Amino acid sequence: MRLTWFGALAALCPVLLCVDGVKNQVIDVETKCDQNVVNVTIHLEKEFNGVVHVKGSNCIAAIGDKGETSIQIQLDARKCFLRVFKEQGTLWYSGSLHVQMSEAVLQATDPMVPIKCALGTDMLSIKTAFKRSGRKMGGKAEEEHLGKAWLEVRGSAVSSLTPTNALDVGEHTLLSVYTSLPDEVSAKPVDCKVEDGRGGVQSLTDENGCTTDAQLLPAFQAVGPGHWATAFPAFSFPDSQLVHYKCTLMICSGHCPEYNCSEGVNSTRNSRNFQDDTILDLVELYNSVEVTAPNIDFGYLRREAQKQTDDGEEGGWVCMSGPKVAMVFATLGALFLAAVFATLLLLIRHRRKYLKRYSYGLYT
Ligand SMILES: *[C@@H]1O[C@H](CO)[C@@H](O)[C@H](O)[C@H]1NC(C)=O
Ligand SMILES: *[C@@H]1O[C@H](CO)[C@@H](O)[C@H](O)[C@H]1NC(C)=O
Ligand SMILES: *[C@@H]1O[C@H](CO)[C@@H](O)[C@H](O)[C@H]1NC(C)=O
Repeated sequence: MRLTWFGALAALCPVLLCVDGVKNQVIDVETKCDQNVVNVTIHLEKEFNGVVHVKGSNCIAAIGDKGETSIQIQLDARKCFLRVFKEQGTLWYSGSLHVQMSEAVLQATDPMVPIKCALGTDMLSIKTAFKRSGRKMGGKAEEEHLGKAWLEVRGSAVSSLTPTNALDVGEHTLLSVYTSLPDEVSAKPVDCKVEDGRGGVQSLTDENGCTTDAQLLPAFQAVGPGHWATAFPAFSFPDSQLVHYKCTLMICSGHCPEYNCSEGVNSTRNSRNFQDDTILDLVELYNSVEVTAPNIDFGYLRREAQKQTDDGEEGGWVCMSGPKVAMVFATLGALFLAAVFATLLLLIRHRRKYLKRYSYGLYT
């Protein structure tokens, strides 16, 4: 009788206590990339049957066969909003993968895997499809690599040293555009905006390169040949820490038109008509950065919500947060289990005494 109970307890033990033994773990991560794609291979301790998400984006990470101990993932650098940053003279792609071990549910033990891949180049090549009328291409529209460019979002020296490469809200940040183009063409950044990846957009500069909100981002200043920059305090979206920057690079034959941003839009000099043939193409540049808001307390939102519910008819209810409710239930559960075991032990002892006392007299 007693042995049966211990057997049952022993069978329960692996479920209750030995969870660590079944946890799957990441052993190694390899990356290989070109400008468009980052191929990631994750090696795991056990077979993988889950899902991989890219943090801050809902891009589909293509996955190899399931039930293997290594996973192959192909990330589209642009669709997956990977960060581009410069270190030791070369550009790197970086991002975070959330490895969900179970196909259906999230677990506290699911790892976040940082990825980083060196591109081996100092700028990204830009593809254009414009017509070089008359000259070399004979008016044929064809994708060609025209030159190189990149959009940099860089915090102050302190945050550049942190392993996550993230910014803090309010941190002094430089937004720069670098280009390297053939002599006969020039460029300038226009129409910059930030997106939260879920449809939220905030415009920073308009199609002429004039600022739309000088408090958010002052207009770009030319600081050198093919190099523009502006500085601003880093900002974030209220419900998303990943901020995706996009700027359009206007590519012109000869010099790009200059706009006087303090003049009205109806000024004849700002008229678009005569520039249409100087603008060869518009190319999108992008980058992403994680901006954390450690000092911003969103508690007031919750307090407001609480005040509103308090005003309603809530007499007699005790409100508790999720973790507190869980703790109360855990305590009650533990007390209940202890009571059950105590009762069982007493019963068993009592029964043994009873059997001992009467075993001689019962069946004779
Ligand atoms: C990434 O993987 C795909 C498919 O396996 C392959 O075609 C491509 O060449 C790889 N790219 C790089 C940069 O390794
Ligand atoms: C831009 O326009 C304003 C108003 O018309 C004028 O005062 C200013 O001098 C102009 N700036 C340049 C650089 O032309
Ligand atoms: C520009 O012109 C339009 C009509 O042509 C007018 O309604 C508008 O007020 C003008 N804007 C400025 C800033 O002058």
